[in-house]
Amino acid sequence: MTSSGPGGPTPLSIDPTCRIEFGPGRIDRLPALIAATGHDRAFVVTDHGLRAAGVLEPVLKALEAAGLEHAVYDEVAPNPSTANVDAGAARARTFGTAAVVALGGGSVLDAAKGIALLVGNPSAAAADADDLWEAGDGLPLVAIPTTSGTGAETNGFGVIEDTAACRKVYIGHASVKPRVALLDPELTLGLPAPATAATGIDALVHGIESLASRGANPISTAYATQAVAMVSRALPAAYRNGSDLEARAELMLGAHLAGQALTLSGLGLVHGIGHVLTAHTGTPHGVALAAVLEEVMEFNAPAAQGAYEQVARAMRLAPPADGDWARAAIDGVREIAGAVEVKRPLRTLGADRAMLPSIAAGAVADPVTKNNPLSPDPARVLNILTTTY
Ligand SMILES: NC(=O)c1ccc[n+]([C@@H]2O[C@H](COP(=O)([O-])OP(=O)(O)OC[C@H]3O[C@@H](n4cnc5c(N)ncnc54)[C@H](O)[C@@H]3O)[C@@H](O)[C@H]2O)c1
Ligand SMILES: [Fe+2]
Repeated sequence: MTSSGPGGPTPLSIDPTCRIEFGPGRIDRLPALIAATGHDRAFVVTDHGLRAAGVLEPVLKALEAAGLEHAVYDEVAPNPSTANVDAGAARARTFGTAAVVALGGGSVLDAAKGIALLVGNPSAAAADADDLWEAGDGLPLVAIPTTSGTGAETNGFGVIEDTAACRKVYIGHASVKPRVALLDPELTLGLPAPATAATGIDALVHGIESLASRGANPISTAYATQAVAMVSRALPAAYRNGSDLEARAELMLGAHLAGQALTLSGLGLVHGIGHVLTAHTGTPHGVALAAVLEEVMEFNAPAAQGAYEQVARAMRLAPPADGDWARAAIDGVREIAGAVEVKRPLRTLGADRAMLPSIAAGAVADPVTKNNPLSPDPARVLNILTTTY
């Protein structure tokens, strides 16, 4: 990472992403935050899991206490599809103009961005995603993440499965970048331990890949360094004891900072492999990343010494006797992945050996891989996959 090159200092142009409201019980501020968008009605997007876990309840209570007219669409599926987004948009169009409140993990946040955008473009469908980037404005969005992982509240696009065309589409627009990220760690107290581990590792990888990214700059590095410090300290504690509010709070803010970092810098090969592995096997995003994290770091180490030293120092690791900070960072990451029991061999994730060459080729071609500190070829990636099989 450098802020100056042979041509002098590198110029930067960075928009603050969104207003942040953070703290236990902050959900009480929701009516005021909706009012600040210029609306007095709310369309709440969520999923069945959140309703069943009782997370929707305090949100509805806050809306009711303020007398705010609202409707709920709770049918977002994990890795949402275009049909799912179209169904939510149909419901939202019937409800009419409102602020959209997205309550959930990355799946809900992504679907809600699509829904908000389609309401502003009444003749469009989610499968038109490629053309919607230049379309009319969507409804304003208030994002309330309930997993501490994706950082999807920091950007204005969602990753949606176009089941008819068998491809992922990116549906987004500047107008659906959340106006506010309402970060209330009390909403994550009931997130089960395996989901805490998978989503928390996602956040840690965002910090690490952001630091080592070719797109890193001093601002993304500041966010990513603090993200690694907070996530690495809080994740094992939140995994061990889900009701540790302090750990939940630190993890939530760390994951948000990691999202801010990656939005500015881009990511790398861990995400390149993770995307393709999830598409082939349905493995949850964070579990797919954990399967190859240390192995990709080993591969990148020759080109990422400074970034990995930054990772190791952020994790407060003791200075290594031999001065090999990259090795210290990799060992530190292995310890955290072990503590939260998220590392699995690829063969147990539904990837059969015959799939590995196409996973390797797909990972090299994935757009996130272009920011990896070393440019991998398919043979090197196949080698990484074989090592972790
Ligand atoms: N837009 C982006 O920048 C971005 C980045 C990375 C990933 N994503 C997308 O995010 C999705 C993954 O998101 P995720 O990892 O947050 O998982 P998720 O949103 O799919 O949620 C997983 C499960 O956890 C449950 N859950 C969520 N919060 C809970 C809580 N507080 N208590 C109890 N249960 C809870 C949900 O009901 C769901 O069943 C993928 O679709 C991925 O494509 C988007
Ligand atoms: Fe991720």
